[in-house]
Order: sequence, then C-alpha cells, then structure tokens
Amino acid sequence: MATIQTRGITKTYASRSGPVHALTGVDLTVEAGTVRGLLGPNGAGKTTVVKVLTTLIQADAGSASINDIDVRRHPQRIRSIIGVSGQYSAVDENLTGLENLEMVGRLYHLGRKRARARAKELIDVFGLAEAGDRPVKGFSGGMRRRIDLAGALVINPQVLFLDEPTTGLDPRSRLGLWDVIRDLVGGGTTVLLTTQYLEEADQLADEISVIDAGRVIAEGTADELKAQVGGHRVAATLVDPADMAAVRDIMLRHGEGEPRVDGSGRQVDVAVEHGPVALQRVLADLDAAGVRVHDAGIRRPTLDDVFLQLTGHMAEESDADDEQAGARRKRGRRDDHEDGGAPDGDTADTGSPGGAIAGATTGIAGPAPDGADAHPETGGVMTDDPPDGERPRERARHRAGAER
Ligand SMILES: Nc1ncnc2c1ncn2[C@@H]1O[C@H](COP(=O)(O)OP(=O)(O)O)[C@@H](O)[C@H]1O
Ligand SMILES: [Mg+2]
Repeated sequence: MATIQTRGITKTYASRSGPVHALTGVDLTVEAGTVRGLLGPNGAGKTTVVKVLTTLIQADAGSASINDIDVRRHPQRIRSIIGVSGQYSAVDENLTGLENLEMVGRLYHLGRKRARARAKELIDVFGLAEAGDRPVKGFSGGMRRRIDLAGALVINPQVLFLDEPTTGLDPRSRLGLWDVIRDLVGGGTTVLLTTQYLEEADQLADEISVIDAGRVIAEGTADELKAQVGGHRVAATLVDPADMAAVRDIMLRHGEGEPRVDGSGRQVDVAVEHGPVALQRVLADLDAAGVRVHDAGIRRPTLDDVFLQLTGHMAEESDADDEQAGARRKRGRRDDHEDGGAPDGDTADTGSPGGAIAGATTGIAGPAPDGADAHPETGGVMTDDPPDGERPRERARHRAGAER
C-alpha cells in the first residue's frame, strides 16, 4: 500500500515581487515503511511539499493523501497519524526538555499521566537523560534537534516528516542525529525526509526524489541515480592551487566534458570513459608538467555528480554572493507572504557544512539565523484547538524572536 501519495500538486505563492511558482506538479509515491529522501537545493519546494502533506497549507491543484486519506478533505485525521519535525527547534526555552515533550503530549490530548510517561520514554530513547531536567535554553544545537525530533514522535506517528533535520548542525551532531533517525526508521515508520545534503539522502533514504524548481526531476535509490550518471571520474588534489589551469587542461584532454574545480581551488575532477587508462594518462601528463599532487585517483560518481548532471547547473561556491543577495530578498519578502504572515521555511542557508548541494547553502555564515521564528510546522504541534487556547510553540517563537 502506498502510504504517501501526491499527484500533480502545484502551489503558487503571491509575493510583492510577483507570483512564486513553488510547486509546478509534484508526483510522489512513498511505500509504507520506507524512507524517502526529498533532495533539492534551497528554494526547490521541499518545505512546500511538506506543508501540503501536513495540512499546513493547501495545494492549488492536484491531490495528496496519506494512507488513502485525502489531506485536504480530512486534515484532522491526517494530523492524528503524522509527526513533523522542522528545520529549527521551536521548543519553549524556559521549559526543560522533559516538560517540552510533556507539553506536546498534552496538546495531543494524551492526559497528564500518559504525556509524562511518554516524555520520559522519549528522553531516554534520545539519550537526553541528563539534559532532560534542564531548561532547553542551555541546550546545544544538536540537543535541540533531538528534542524537536522527539516532539514529533510523541504520538507514535505512522508517518513522519523530517524537514531538513540536520541543517545548520556541526558534522558531529549531524552524525549523531543520523544514528537516531536510523534507529527510528528501523522500527518501520514511513518517513519523508527533506534535505539539501547529498550524503544525508545517501545515508538515510531508501529512495530519493530529486526536486528542483518545484518539480521532481529524478527518482530512484542512490545507486540507481548514480548509475544514471555512469562511468568513473578521475580526481586530483593539488599541492599548489597555482597549477590549476595546467591541470584543467590535462583533464580536459583526457576526460569527457568539463573538468570541475571545487571551491578551494585545489581539487579537480572530470568524467572519464575508462577509469584506469585515463588515470594513467593524467598522471603521466601531470608528471611531465611538473605538477605535484597530494593525491589522485579514480572515483565512482556521487550524488553530487547526479545532481549536477540532472539540473545542468554547476551550482558553484562562486555563487555565494548571489545566494546571499537571494536570501536577503527572500527574507525581505517574508512580510507579504500569503499565509497570514506565517514565516516560511526557506531560510535553510545557515552556513555551509560540507556535503550540501553546492551553491544552495553557500550564503549566510554564522549560527542558525532567525532560529525559532521560522517554523510553524516544527514539532508536530498542529492541534487547531490547544487546551489552553494558545499554542505554546507560538509563545516560544515570539519569545525567541524578541530575544534576538
Ligand atoms: N509563504 C511564501 N510566500 C512566498 N514565497 C514563498 C513562501 N514559501 C516559500 N516561498 C518560495 O517558494 C519557493 C519554494 O520554497 P520552499 O518550499 O520553502 O523550498 P525549500 O524548502 O526547498 O527551500 C522558494 O522560492 C520560496 O522563496
Ligand atoms: Mg525548506
């Protein structure tokens, strides 16, 4: 049985600078018990897909269902079977980890006792036993993500949406969170995981849908996608970047198509027809030219290569300035968003840890930016009618906003 299904969903946002065609016809079929990676650069439409499926917004056209329940017609039923975790923690800073989770349970009408028991259970599962009794404001980024993720699991959802769960985390915390997510999906939960990190999709997803400019441009397992690119690449790391021009020429001579130079200007690779032969030729020419290399070798295509081939755009680090400007424009546009001012989730450009789709995250250095302000969808708290009349997460968001 297909658990998550969308057919031709489109979404156009109104904005001051004109309509933004965020989704232009997205078809997705995710089988029960599998992890689907929705991989795409910033602005590709990932969050919009998640918002439609989690009933936060409605698509303009097309259909979407989870377990054959139509998301537009039965939002309440959908909400009772899903969990959502957003890009940023939006937990209540002054409550402890345990209290935060308990609060989520109460919002889901679990009752005080069950909410407490479930919160304790999750604190253990997520390895937060020591931190559970401390206010969240002292938590590290990685711990916040864990609490946020735990919040999405309070009701044992059948389907879990993880919207860029590790964006902005340092590499170690990212690895830690991957372990947590892996354990989780080992239990048979169906997961839609959006990410701009190729490696994350590679590591966690059974199948990957590559999304760009509002549509799915390729689908398959990581291996299938890599096989589409085919062949090998010869790669070299130079001792002296000043040699790059010469090395490019050599690679151009023995490779297929344009050599690719990374942002550091030290690494270069090129697609080749026959790996070993091409490598020998490249090495001989490098030697003859007196170019010293740290290493050189043959490698299989990565998802990076897949992405570049599919989208055709060499999303390079040199676009950083444009990206920053783009991000600023986006932020500026936020106040005229059509969804009642709810800030969108497009501020994923927090620094650029390695492995992100190049160019997509090269802007905006520094810590997670607007932090908790950004995510109405965070934490799976979507009860229309919370017991105390105000969404605690809204409060948390406002408070966090005021502090910044
Ligand atoms: N509420 C909104 N109003 C106007 N434009 C939006 C809104 N939300 C998202 N967008 C725009 O729609 C496109 C897709 O955004 P999004 O789904 O957040 O992409 P992703 O999550 O892949 O970064 C982007 O160009 C983004 O700026
Ligand atoms: Mg997003």
